[in-house]
Amino acid sequence: MPTGGSIYVFIDSTAHHILIKIKDEGVGIGEEHVKRLGERFFTTKHNGNGLSLMVRFI
Ligand SMILES: Nc1ncnc2c1ncn2[C@@H]1O[C@H](COP(=O)(O)OP(=O)(O)OP(=O)(O)O)[C@@H](O)[C@H]1O
Ligand SMILES: [Mg+2]
Repeated sequence: MPTGGSIYVFIDSTAHHILIKIKDEGVGIGEEHVKRLGERFFTTKHNGNGLSLMVRFI
């Protein structure tokens, strides 16, 4: 979020699963990039390594 904002974390659970939703007020993610989330080394950042979301998708 280059100009700041809030991050919201929602947590819900059932007997067997925990659902965690994270929402921010940043620039958002374009449709063509959404498809690639979770792909190893996919990054649009200058110094990103594209591993953070991939680790969470495992
Ligand atoms: N909250 C977000 N808002 C907008 N785009 C995001 C967000 N989170 C991830 N992305 C997009 O997904 C890409 C991959 O994210 P990921 O967190 O896996 O790696 P990264 O942020 O590029 O680098 P790092 O491994 O250092 O976190 C980002 O480069 C960015 O394009
Ligand atoms: Mg990241």
